[in-house]
Amino acid sequence: MLPQEIIRKKKDGFPLSDSEIQYYIEGISNGSVSESHIAAFCMAVLFKSMSTEETFSLTDHMVKSGDKLKWDDLNGPVVDKHSTGGVGDKVSIMLAPIVASCGIYNPMISGRGLGHTGGTLDKLESIPGYNTTPDNSLFCHTVKNVGCAIIGQTSNLAPADKVIYGVRDVTATLESIPLITASILSKKLAAGLDGLVMDIKTGNGALADNLDFARNMGSCIIEVAKQFGMNTSAIITDMNQPLGGTVGNTLEIKEVIDYLKCVRQESRLHEVVLTLAAEMLTIAGIVDSTDEGFQKAKEVLNSGKAAETFEKMVSQLGGPNNILENTNSHFESAYFVKPVQVHQSGFISQINTPAVGLTVVELGGGRKKPSDSIDHSVGLSNVLGLGTKVNVGEPLAIVHAHNEDQANIAIQQIQNSFIISEIKAKSNPLIIEYLN
Ligand code: URA
Repeated sequence: MLPQEIIRKKKDGFPLSDSEIQYYIEGISNGSVSESHIAAFCMAVLFKSMSTEETFSLTDHMVKSGDKLKWDDLNGPVVDKHSTGGVGDKVSIMLAPIVASCGIYNPMISGRGLGHTGGTLDKLESIPGYNTTPDNSLFCHTVKNVGCAIIGQTSNLAPADKVIYGVRDVTATLESIPLITASILSKKLAAGLDGLVMDIKTGNGALADNLDFARNMGSCIIEVAKQFGMNTSAIITDMNQPLGGTVGNTLEIKEVIDYLKCVRQESRLHEVVLTLAAEMLTIAGIVDSTDEGFQKAKEVLNSGKAAETFEKMVSQLGGPNNILENTNSHFESAYFVKPVQVHQSGFISQINTPAVGLTVVELGGGRKKPSDSIDHSVGLSNVLGLGTKVNVGEPLAIVHAHNEDQANIAIQQIQNSFIISEIKAKSNPLIIEYLN
């Protein structure tokens, strides 16, 4: 077999056999398939797509490219949630301790920021000492003893995905449903899950910028996951504005801590967290209905149990053992803090969500190239949402920057990203659709 012949077959619109896909993925590990072959293959798949059968084979061989975790010694269901990414999306860090406090084991393998979207790992690394790459024994020990551990993709968990993803990122081939499905599911299957809940974001700040794309992506992921015997459902949620009141690593972690301590719970964020928690508890078989799941999630949140679980996870993974106390003393603050003032009274009718995310990247809170380091302290707080009434001079958000020049650039960008109208627009539903 020749890699170029497999590319040609897909380019001409023919389905690939299991052995051709196997040859391709094994070739990534043994070096017989080069990065240019991968790039051309991904472009052919982007244009000609793949059947469910081909997507299953691709996922299967990507899982087999590395190790598979086993959780035989746990006495409860192993369930995770995965978000397709957005701006201000700190849901995973709130959700893992909530569901773990209800009896789920949640080994969560998360990613770094990509483009305008923030990454859970970058947020967690703003906690001093937190180790996002523990060895397998510490990871498993934390999941077993605390119920959850959020870490990065280890080098031997679906390693073929790491290579393919890197090529897709720089060849404009991210938006292919079979490639997205295989990429997400190979990591989740390698993590040894019993169940998965997908949070598929749609809107101007999401990978799926329209509802049809989000629906097709969700259906494909569910169909393929079920063929592997992994119970999976998906919820499509809105990403036409940042989620919660903060965007930026340290600021988002502080919002998570305030949320878990029930000090400040922004309503849209709270609804997404509880909806996903209820779905995970249902999939796990811990509750009989999502209503019961909502109730259970609220109980562990209100009793402080979820906050304690978060503190234990942070401490086991090398962070402070008292992060809930004197929270501010654990974090560095940005040098320069300045409000973004509104120039026109009215209602916030549109937000350019990717531009808000990119403003934080420009401030140093994200990477322009993979080797860049991050300034965790910068970002935005007190970000107002769609439909909010504002008067001239009031703050739309507060910029946290390294210096005044960077703050002034960010202020300009945020002012340009928010559209204010005289009439209040009808708001989009937050929880758009359940798929299962
Ligand atoms: N998240 C992933 O892990 N892979 C994709 O392809 C898209 C989102």
